Amino acid sequence: MEIIILPSYEQVSHEVSARIVSAVQKKPDIVLGLATGNTMLGIYEKVVQAYQLGKVNFKKVKSFNLDEYIGFDPEESITFHSYMNHHLFSHINIPAQNTHIPPSRPTNIDLACREYEHKIKKSGGIDLQLLGIGREGHIGFNEPSSSLQARTRVKTLTETTLKDNFGPKKGARFAITMGIGTIMDSREVILVASGEEKAVAISRAVEGPISSSCPASILQFHKQAKIIIDEKAAVFLSKKDYYKWVWNHKNEVNDVIKDNQNKS
Ligand code: GLP
Repeated sequence: MEIIILPSYEQVSHEVSARIVSAVQKKPDIVLGLATGNTMLGIYEKVVQAYQLGKVNFKKVKSFNLDEYIGFDPEESITFHSYMNHHLFSHINIPAQNTHIPPSRPTNIDLACREYEHKIKKSGGIDLQLLGIGREGHIGFNEPSSSLQARTRVKTLTETTLKDNFGPKKGARFAITMGIGTIMDSREVILVASGEEKAVAISRAVEGPISSSCPASILQFHKQAKIIIDEKAAVFLSKKDYYKWVWNHKNEVNDVIKDNQNKS
């Protein structure tokens, strides 16, 4: 895993949005895996700015969202359909038919989940998957105890998630989410976290044992996982100084190689 600790949420948003923009520039028909939640807001805002400045074109991009609540019309403000339209899709030139979000009112849930997996496969698989993290370590809506190999399916949300996502209001109890197996098939993942309320989950995900008690810990097994977080979310990482040193000196290995070549 590459662990990148930056001073503020602003810098985290800048770093992650720049990576998305650069990935689309390099591969114009990239398949993006998208996430929702407050953490993504600053990132999408900066992606939209880059689009408005003409730096990036989404005409050929395809996207698959991680998850969606069940039991609502897609237009209702609670849904991730509504979130994505509001914060990203309506501001960029991604064709509507290229964007995919699990259905919020599926007639046949199992079939809808199988179809979602099939569409991801047919698109060639997800190149770059964005992830947030829940306070108990969920990715997508893979709550603690989720199978670490699961595919897209229905999950029941925990009390913590209900509290975090809806507060005192009545929200959704169930969601369709990509499974951890689905997420692990992505060629690259970027997990983003900000704020001290995420610090315990980040420490368990990065330095704890791999366990379904903290589903994000499975990313220790991913070959291309980047964890991009702010100082507050990094506060419980025991090797925080080491991770920072690695990031700040990442190009020095080339100097070492050059030095050796000059000496020989
Ligand atoms: C929801 C989403 C997760 C996301 C999490 C974090 O639960 N299903 O994918 O990681 O929110 O949300 P926030 O960024 O608002 O803390």
